Amino acid sequence: MEAPEKKDWLLDERLLQSQKLAAIGQLSAGIAHEINNPLAIIRQEAEWLDRLLKKQANLEGAEELQGSVQQIMQQVDRCTEIIRNLLDFARKRDPVIQAVDVNRIIEDMTMLVEKEAKHNNITIVRRYDPELPRILSDAPQLRQVILNFLTNATYAIGKGGVVTITTRLADRDSVDIVISDTGCGIAEENLKKIFDPFFTTKPPGRGTGLGLSICHGIILRLGGRITVESTLGQGTAFTITLPLSRESELFAHG
Ligand SMILES: Nc1ncnc2c1ncn2[C@@H]1O[C@H](COP(=O)(O)OP(=O)(O)OP(=O)(O)O)[C@@H](O)[C@H]1O
Ligand SMILES: [Mg+2]
Repeated sequence: MEAPEKKDWLLDERLLQSQKLAAIGQLSAGIAHEINNPLAIIRQEAEWLDRLLKKQANLEGAEELQGSVQQIMQQVDRCTEIIRNLLDFARKRDPVIQAVDVNRIIEDMTMLVEKEAKHNNITIVRRYDPELPRILSDAPQLRQVILNFLTNATYAIGKGGVVTITTRLADRDSVDIVISDTGCGIAEENLKKIFDPFFTTKPPGRGTGLGLSICHGIILRLGGRITVESTLGQGTAFTITLPLSRESELFAHG
């Protein structure tokens, strides 16, 4: 009796989550579009000021003014980045399905973060299943997801630790990607919230809290699921399970 109850609960949760995501997505897209134009104008004007100030080397306080203008440009760029994330989040493009080499995608993304990781004394351990079959999925979306998880993992570690990436055949119809870290872990009361849009424990100005909700949306649309295990102070492991093909997913659950 226990298993079906758990499944129903999961289904409800997922439905609620996707409705929440849809509503927030629409709202965000609207706001994001409106804010994009004024932001572009502020950026242009600041650049213009910057050029003017560079010509006015004799002007009193020119250096300070230039510092301020640089700040304005940096903060505008940060806003633009947030807007881009929001739009990505809202856009929800339909997956473009093709044969995908999961190990290859993971390795590409790992190489992107590895330099910075090494700098922070973080070791990345690869445990790829060399026999992993190709899956039918969306490569660019998977890249985005993997990068998000790797970024979260290294952020949770800060300095000195290990990120382990495992791939394996989960059963006849699906593959698992496990990304585990020896980072700060997630408090029990936060575990339920981490997939919520805008939930973040990062200090103000550092995170939008959209990473995991974007990943969650993408993986659901690809017919997969994400589970998480975490111990506060010890680390976290996220498991992404993806169907070998959409047909096998339909077959397995329908
Ligand atoms: N590997 C991890 N270890 C510990 N906590 C994590 C991990 N991954 C996610 N979290 C928690 O989940 C929260 C939400 O993650 P999410 O990726 O959605 O947003 P974020 O990383 O805070 O911000 P953003 O992704 O926009 O930079 C994080 O703030 C953190 O509290
Ligand atoms: Mg994140």
